[in-house]
Amino acid sequence: MSNKKFDVVVIGAGPSGYVAAIRCAQLGMKVACVDEWRNRQGESSLGGTCLNVGCIPSKALLESSHIYASMKHDAPKHGITVKDVALDISTMIERKNKVVNELTQGISGLFKTNKIELVHGHAKLSPGKKVKVHDRGAKKVRETLEAEYIIIAAGSSPVRLDSAPLTDDYIFDSAGCLEFEEVPDTLGIVGAGAIGLELGSVWSRLGSEVVLIEAMDAFMPMADSHVTRLALRSLQKQQLDIRLSARLLSTNIKQNKVIVTYEDPRGAQQISFDKLVVAVGRKPNSDYLFGDEMQLEMDERAFIHVNRYCETSVPGIYAIGDIVRGPMLAHKGSEEGVMVAERIAGQKTEINYDHIPSVIYTHPEVAWVGKTEHACVTAGIPVNVGSFPLAASGRARAMGEKEGLVKIIAHKDTDRVLGVHIFAPQASEMIAQAVTAMEMEASAEDVAMTVFAHPTLSESIHEAALAVHNRAIHIKN
Ligand code: FAD
Ligand code: NAI
Repeated sequence: MSNKKFDVVVIGAGPSGYVAAIRCAQLGMKVACVDEWRNRQGESSLGGTCLNVGCIPSKALLESSHIYASMKHDAPKHGITVKDVALDISTMIERKNKVVNELTQGISGLFKTNKIELVHGHAKLSPGKKVKVHDRGAKKVRETLEAEYIIIAAGSSPVRLDSAPLTDDYIFDSAGCLEFEEVPDTLGIVGAGAIGLELGSVWSRLGSEVVLIEAMDAFMPMADSHVTRLALRSLQKQQLDIRLSARLLSTNIKQNKVIVTYEDPRGAQQISFDKLVVAVGRKPNSDYLFGDEMQLEMDERAFIHVNRYCETSVPGIYAIGDIVRGPMLAHKGSEEGVMVAERIAGQKTEINYDHIPSVIYTHPEVAWVGKTEHACVTAGIPVNVGSFPLAASGRARAMGEKEGLVKIIAHKDTDRVLGVHIFAPQASEMIAQAVTAMEMEASAEDVAMTVFAHPTLSESIHEAALAVHNRAIHIKN
């Protein structure tokens, strides 16, 4: 067993941990990163959930399925006849795997360039800022790493339901849903959150009849209700059967089908599917992280308790990403990684948690940053609101994408932009302009006075800013 000393040891090489490790190394620290992820071939694969089974593979399949659906449904409207549009799922999945492999290998390359020591194995935190590394399932400690600072970035895993235990062929979590070898005729998804909507979109575009069973009565409650009303209608038009106020009760596998019983306001309902995906949230990976005699303050949901600088209850030990409070988003974790690295180096870096953008990658996409109109009204904040429908955008019409809108909420007295909500193709790209404007403390007037290229979807942001003061050009104010 070897003992090695570092300035910083990072636990986890997801988007929080690998970014923290790289930034620490850039700042001159001697860094080790311990990660236990293995890919299908049993090899170490960096990038955590995001690169291996999350953000990247889901977007690869969203892209492929969008091309397929466009060729079938949109190409004819453009006067393009495509005969025999056919699906080859194994090529689609192989392409997705190739994208993942290239990116995970890219992180290994970055570790080498930055001289970060990668230690493959399961890390357990011990007193005295020691990290003990085990081989998976083994009790014996393989090596012990010591450091001045420790950054915990161990991420999260899917929540499991006793009422829908995973099986090899019928009931899957999000990772399993990225590996289907054929298109199921019928697919049930428990949970109409981010994963349910994105993976439901993938398989629905490829031909599955998709039903989403969602316990809450509100659809996407965290987004602005104006946008979510439009999004719900649009997704329903795309044949996503979204059943709200529907709580899963039980599942049963019979005659090659998953029989699902759920309860809605009318009582118990039954429906059967070829496959079922459970996407009811994720939980922090804090269960097997601590060795004997090691304690950190935790919250009631097993997240590691941290302050706004990601400091835990033990000085010198930080925690970032999905394992701490806040949205479970890759970019939030990465920015926490940068902040912690820079604070260890003595800088005063902070994160503005109010300006973290959210995106749901349906088509059109839903993206937002800042406050909703409802939150402002509830908090008694006086606001002016400007909206611009995509139907009035020249570029959107040229693209055949007239569904959607941009909505800007500004403070009535200061005109400062408080929230931007977009339902549009490429909303994920457009929202960055809103984040930048809000980070620069822009007013709606500042955005209205900015020149946007024509014709672009982004002009809708300009028009929405003009609409805040009833002077949009291409709609009636
Ligand atoms: P993780 O990515 O979970 O990485 C943690 C790493 O730590 C893993 O490699 C794990 O093996 C390792 N680890 C854990 N415990 C130990 C231990 N004791 N010892 C050693 N190693 C350990 N977010 C977005 O922002 N945009 C998206 O589009 C998006 N899409 C998603 C789609 C899906 C299907 C899913 C499931 C998630 C998606 N997310 C998305 C969420 C995103 O993946 C997470 O927020 C992000 O990966 C969290 O990063 P992290 O580094 O904190 O944790
Ligand atoms: P989620 O929290 O977004 O949605 C889970 C949904 O399941 C909720 O709406 C909840 O009401 C519902 N639910 C819970 N128990 C239920 C039950 N028994 N019956 C019926 N419905 C039930 O979680 P999800 O979709 O699993 O995603 C996990 C996290 O991953 C998200 O919080 C998000 O942060 C991240 N993610 C982000 C993406 C993005 O940024 N585009 C994409 C995918 C995931």
